[in-house]
Amino acid sequence: MGHVVRVLETEDQFTVDSEESVLMAAIRQGVQLLHDCTEGGCGTCRVRLMEGCVRYEEYPLALSPEDEDEGFALACQARPESDLVISTERPMEPCSDPERYTAEVAAVEAIGRDVVHLTLALPNAEGLVYRPGQYLNVMLGDGNKRSFSMASTPNGRTVDLHIRRVSGGHFTDGHLSTLKPGDRLDVDLPHGLFCCRKEDFRPLLMVATGTGLAPIKSMLESLMDDPDCPPVSLYWGMRTEEDLYLHDEIQSWGERLCDFQYVPVLSRPGPDWDGRQGYVQEVAAADIGDFSEHAIYMCGSPNMIASAKKLFVERGANPGFIYSDAFNFQHTLVPAE
Ligand code: FES
Repeated sequence: MGHVVRVLETEDQFTVDSEESVLMAAIRQGVQLLHDCTEGGCGTCRVRLMEGCVRYEEYPLALSPEDEDEGFALACQARPESDLVISTERPMEPCSDPERYTAEVAAVEAIGRDVVHLTLALPNAEGLVYRPGQYLNVMLGDGNKRSFSMASTPNGRTVDLHIRRVSGGHFTDGHLSTLKPGDRLDVDLPHGLFCCRKEDFRPLLMVATGTGLAPIKSMLESLMDDPDCPPVSLYWGMRTEEDLYLHDEIQSWGERLCDFQYVPVLSRPGPDWDGRQGYVQEVAAADIGDFSEHAIYMCGSPNMIASAKKLFVERGANPGFIYSDAFNFQHTLVPAE
């Protein structure tokens, strides 16, 4: 006898025949469930059982008994023993609820041609936990706010921001240009869903343009000295050599990441540049070729992200493992499609 499976988030519903797995039944009926190997080995199809129970013909490699005790199942191997309600939501590291803080400017430093490194001290934020990759809002006092990704990892004391000066920009030409140590700023944090999903267990491809490097830096710093850190390739697109404001520091990251490759890409290099040239996503595509194994993180201009997403999916990337955060003047989260 078949059983009915309902997906909590989408309200999709499908039936599973007695000898079918949940995943096979979903595919047969046109319901999308994230998957990869279909053999119980990769963990991509992991779902949480909200109601009902399942059995396995062979216990799958990618499911630990602890996972099972916590209610997780692998859809590609699970056979329902009753009607099911499943959740496809992917777990994320916990973080604090957004809260308003009065920050004190600890340092303002020009780095590179048009980027400012702003360090904000956060008194009374010892308990603050944010996920590397998240952003904060700077409240401007006139009802406006500006959003910036945090370039540092949580330490309960300070946050670092990389802020590109925008000619005529309300914040960067106005407030930022006069900021000095000791000044106060109201900030609101943490925000955003762009963060590192360690449970993906895939090689990481990080692609950034401009100050889109900031959240990527935070993520990579959180992986440093971690023996479980997967291989990481970072492609950073800028216009000219002078724009690579963190070039030397990035080169040292390889000492603390297990298998790290850094490729700066310039769109308008000077005559002495002997590195890569062109659009950053096209250079990554030329180097990597097949993206089917990667988890891909992208931050930067909306045009780069849209173009990269299309290109990488054409080259085999699984859209379920593409995470992106597009920088406009207003910070906007672009969910993976
Ligand atoms: Fe790989 Fe299910 S798809 S474990």
